[in-house]
Amino acid sequence: MEESRIAQPIGTTLDRFIKSNQDQFAFASGELSQLLRDIALASKVVNREVNKAGLIDIMGSMGTANMGGDQQQKLDVLANIRFSRALMKGGEACALISEESESYLDLNNHGKYVIAIDPLDGSSNIDVNVSIGTIFSIYRRKSAPGTPIVQEDILQRGDEQVAAGYILYGSSTMLVYTTGHGVNGFTYEPTLGEYFLSHPDMKQPEEGKIFSVNEGAWNSFSQPVKDFLTHCKDNQYTGRYIGSLVADFHRNLLKGGIYMYPATAKDPNGKLRLMYECNALAFVAEQAGGKASDGLCRILEIQPESLHQRTPFYVGSRLMVMKAERYNQ
Ligand code: AHG
Ligand code: MN
Ligand code: MN
Repeated sequence: MEESRIAQPIGTTLDRFIKSNQDQFAFASGELSQLLRDIALASKVVNREVNKAGLIDIMGSMGTANMGGDQQQKLDVLANIRFSRALMKGGEACALISEESESYLDLNNHGKYVIAIDPLDGSSNIDVNVSIGTIFSIYRRKSAPGTPIVQEDILQRGDEQVAAGYILYGSSTMLVYTTGHGVNGFTYEPTLGEYFLSHPDMKQPEEGKIFSVNEGAWNSFSQPVKDFLTHCKDNQYTGRYIGSLVADFHRNLLKGGIYMYPATAKDPNGKLRLMYECNALAFVAEQAGGKASDGLCRILEIQPESLHQRTPFYVGSRLMVMKAERYNQ
């Protein structure tokens, strides 16, 4: 089918952009658009809380009086509440898979979509004022709306995503997403409370010079992983590792590079979660011309067997990920 992408100028609001591109969705009915708006709205609330977090932490660490005696909720729990509330109120989603909940959450049983979310990614970086993020995947449910949710609704492969993206709470806040027709990035203007198109039709350089990995785990990497990393160093690549997947991914998307969280001796499936970390970023990467792999196979083709399943993850510039795969073979 001929693509009906409508080019939008830089500065277009997210709302207008979503509306103008609505007809390119396979099941254009406005519901997916509303879902994206719900996610954007929740992200604005989380953004506000992220920006306050440092202040609250400073007060706490100085031992000053604690107001009200309430225990401060961790930001990742708060973010989970913000996103699940927005999705519940919106009514378009029937189920929510989240890093913060053992099992999936029932939302509106008449909703047509299933969401998977990492509400706060990089949470160890909150207290030290380093970039963090949110990651989301959107699937169409398989069962008829109004009937009980079945396993096939929940455990869908990444290549069934209808939309996915992330929010980066960085030096500016950005929302980057795809509906399978390329990738677009929006920057948040906090005084106006709006996201504006700032990065239209994003493309990942197919080759890059950045490698992002937690080298502290070197001793427990496999020999092929060590060999690949040695190759990166021998070729004077640049090592960059923030420790927030969204932020590391975003930088490499713009500049060209590879992010990897390989299997280790301790974690034979790596650390990252297939359903709410890897699939969304894999979809974005591929839509930007990049590649995502578990070291041997395409991430988007892995059939999930459980909600919190882990997978080794290699994502980024196409030729770099291909090279890492060749070392692993
Ligand atoms: P989360 O904060 O959602 O638990 O995710 C943390 C993840 C990811 O953001 C990051 O890339 C990775 O953990 C860092 O792990 P290491 O500290 O083991 O490098
Ligand atoms: Mn995470
Ligand atoms: Mn998280």
